[in-house]
Order: sequence, then structure tokens, then C-alpha cells
Amino acid sequence: MSEIKTIGVIGAGQMGRGIAQVAIQSGYDVLLFDAFTDGLNKGVSFIQAQLNKGIEKGKWDKAAAEAAQARLRPVEELTALKICDLVVEAATENKAIKFDIFAELDKICPPHTILASNTSSISITEIAANTSRPDKVAGMHFMNPVPVMKLVEGIKGLETSADTFATVRATAEKMGKTFIAARDIAGFAVNRILMPMINEAVYALYEGIASAEDIDTAMKLGTNQPMGPLALADFIGLDTCLAIMEVLHDGLGDTKYRPCPLLKQYVLAGRMGKKSGKGFYEYNV
Ligand code: CAA
Repeated sequence: MSEIKTIGVIGAGQMGRGIAQVAIQSGYDVLLFDAFTDGLNKGVSFIQAQLNKGIEKGKWDKAAAEAAQARLRPVEELTALKICDLVVEAATENKAIKFDIFAELDKICPPHTILASNTSSISITEIAANTSRPDKVAGMHFMNPVPVMKLVEGIKGLETSADTFATVRATAEKMGKTFIAARDIAGFAVNRILMPMINEAVYALYEGIASAEDIDTAMKLGTNQPMGPLALADFIGLDTCLAIMEVLHDGLGDTKYRPCPLLKQYVLAGRMGKKSGKGFYEYNV
């Protein structure tokens, strides 16, 4: 197993900032990169605010939060990641963007560096094919909100080596997460199950089976889920949910994965969920 001391995180959005926070609090040195200065600054301020909130709530002491903060280095050049042992990419869920990033990282990083993606649905095997080190590429799929959710779904691409996968597992476990191993087939394990459930909830609404509130109450109180499926879809982003359903539909070719027309229509209307202020519910943004 390779030793991991320095982790690069690409993308300071919702997922990247959470991964960076958990990594610095687990003793790793972290270089946080974002292509946009504004996004990078927002990510760093968010982490700082979360660390302070934890002090106020008595989750950790001031010294531990300060030590964690000192391990975080925001960087504006991708080339700065050349000192990393592991890079976790959490950029936009877009194939072309991810392929470019991995091809660049492959040039920048030394041969021992493991390149992981937080993708929720893009093939790890295909991402790895953009590098000269497919044995050192794996999926490391964190859940949102990262500091709260206990799972990391590990995805083994066709060429991922046993050593790479063991290293990624050990790193996730050092971050306090439970690691499960999934094959690199459309949707992996989490979204293969979660997204059809969400899509079915949208169909239930579309077919007038019950109101959005009642569908969510049914699943919250009837099956002890912390959020109903429609509220969860808003939380994840309806565009993301639709994109993942399309990956399942295309990748598995079964009509049971057909995205609900109402989900498509909401996305066309710009109703992306919580982040846009409106999805199945309305939000103050
Ligand atoms: N970052 C860090 N911490 C956060 C947070 C965030 N963005 N949002 C909430 N929290 C923390 C709060 O600080 C609070 O911590 P303490 O209990 O220590 O004070 C705790 O989470 C609970 O928060 P709240 O009391 O504000 O709210 P809640 O009890 O309603 O919980 C929730 C909010 C954790 C989001 C909960 O509703 C939940 O677990 N929902 C389901 C989330 C889920 O299923 N996520 C997976 C989505 S799928 C995915 O990510 C993968 C994919 O590919 C699509």
C-alpha cells in the first residue's frame, strides 16, 4: 500500500470543500484547487466557517481546528498538485472536463500519485483511459454533505490495481468513512439504487398518485429516510439526478431506467432544486 501524506482536491464546490475539510481534519496536508478564484475563496471561507461552527458546538477544540486549517493550502494553478500522493477530483460532472483534468494530472504528477475521481456516474475505466497510469486510477465517491455522511463508495476500474484500491480504501477509512467496493458499471452501487427510487417518486407525482409533500412524508415516516425522495432530489440537484438517470438508461439499456418526463421538464425550466431556489419545493437562495 502506498503512503499518503498530501492530498490534492480539485473543485471547491459542495463536494470538494467537504472532502478537503474532512481530509485536513484527518491529518492530511491538502492542496485545494479550483479553476475559478471566486469559487476557491468561497470554498475556503466555507471550510473556515464549518470549523468555527464545530468549535462553538463543542465538536472539536480550537487548537485542533487551527491545526486543520493550517494544513489547507488553496492553489490557483493545477501544476501545484505535483507534490500530491493522491488527488481527488471533484470537478463538474462533465465527461470532457474530467477527461482533460485527468490527462493534465497525468502529465503533472509523479508516477506514484494516485488519481481518484468523486464522479457519481462517469465510468472510471473511461476516465483512466485518458492517463498513462490506469492502474493508479480509482473512484472515490463521497456523499453529500461529506462531513456528515459516513460512506465512501470505492469504484474499481478495469485496470485499477489492488494496491491502488487498498490505498484508497485506507485513506477513506482514515477519514472516518466506511468504504464499500463497487464495480465500474453504470451508477455503481449507490446511484443504481438511489436514482431509480427518486425517479419513481417523480413518476408518482407525475401520475398524481400523491402530492410532493405526501410522497416525501410517506417515505420519511414510512421507511425512516431522513429526507423524502423529492426533497433529496432538490438537495442533490435535479440536473444531476437527470444526468445520472440518463447514464443508467444509456449504460444499461433497460426502459425501467427511463427518466420521468416531469424531471426532464423541470430541468428544462431551470428548476434545478435547492441551488436554483426552486425544484419540487421553493427555497430562499
Ligand atoms: N456541511 C457540513 N455539515 C452539515 C451540512 C453541510 N453542508 N449540512 C448539515 N450539516 C450537519 C449539521 O451541522 C448538523 O451537525 P450536528 O448534528 O453535529 O450539529 C447535522 O449535519 C444535521 O444538520 P441539521 O440539523 O441542519 O439538519 P438535518 O438533521 O435535517 O440533517 C442532513 C440534514 C444531514 C442533510 C439529513 O437530512 C440527511 O442525512 N439527508 C440525506 C442526505 C443524503 O442522502 N445524502 C446523500 C445524497 S446522494 C449523494 O450524495 C451521491 C450522489 O451521487 C448523488
